[in-house]
Amino acid sequence: MTTQPTALVTGAGGALAGAVIHRLVEAGWRPVLVDVGPMERLQDRYPEQLAASIDLTDEAAAHETLQRLEREAGGVDALVSLAGGFAMQGAAEVRLDDLQKQLALNLVTLVVSASAVLPGMLQRGRGTILGIAAGQAVDGGARVAPYAAAKAGVVAYLRSLDKELASKGVRGLVVYPMGTLDTPANREAMPDADPARWIDTAALAEALVQALRLGPRARLTELKVWPDPG
Ligand SMILES: NC(=O)c1ccc[n+]([C@@H]2O[C@H](COP(=O)([O-])OP(=O)(O)OC[C@H]3O[C@@H](n4cnc5c(N)ncnc54)[C@H](OP(=O)(O)O)[C@@H]3O)[C@@H](O)[C@H]2O)c1
Repeated sequence: MTTQPTALVTGAGGALAGAVIHRLVEAGWRPVLVDVGPMERLQDRYPEQLAASIDLTDEAAAHETLQRLEREAGGVDALVSLAGGFAMQGAAEVRLDDLQKQLALNLVTLVVSASAVLPGMLQRGRGTILGIAAGQAVDGGARVAPYAAAKAGVVAYLRSLDKELASKGVRGLVVYPMGTLDTPANREAMPDADPARWIDTAALAEALVQALRLGPRARLTELKVWPDPG
């Protein structure tokens, strides 16, 4: 690792990303930020960080942008793939378009970002590809079939990547929030729920950044973070 390791954070405009970027900086990492939202949103929030606005489902454009950021940063030590999203619908109503949307949001964004930074990581013989799954990737859930399928894809992709590349210094790391995150969007969507039963994003960020730090002779491949039992 360089003196100041670099983490490429996707979905950087999101709620969990806010906590993760804060913790990365505290822990001595240099975050490099990517989101599909407007560039001003990233620049206003993180004026000191290298950032770009890009749709990670557009492979050619995303590769060009991510590789430029990688060059400007002098290499990427960790990909922290937080881009993702959620949708609910009954299993009988699911159409191809619904499935494709969830796969694009949650799995394609990860695979496209990873394939942009893997050549550099393999060349240097070190790196971590971190993705976010969800409890439903393990257990399934009512009215979330496409989301659960996409998150299960995240798990299978990262496990396979780790099996293939760990011997070359590049590992896959799956983080599972095993419940709802306490975010402004969830508070708005579920005004009657008790957020004290949800996972604190700062605590999840702490665990995630700690998991990135393990190594070189110890590696964590899966991290499940649960809310406190009510
Ligand atoms: N929130 C929860 O309760 C919960 C639970 C389990 C797992 N997770 C997972 O944790 C991660 C972060 O969740 P969060 O609540 O922080 O989500 P969030 O606030 O919606 O953040 C996700 C970010 O990803 C961006 N994004 C979406 N599609 C993109 C694309 N094609 N290219 C680049 N960026 C893209 C979004 O931009 P726009 O907003 O502009 O679309 C948004 O800024 C997600 O993977 C989510 O599935 C969340």
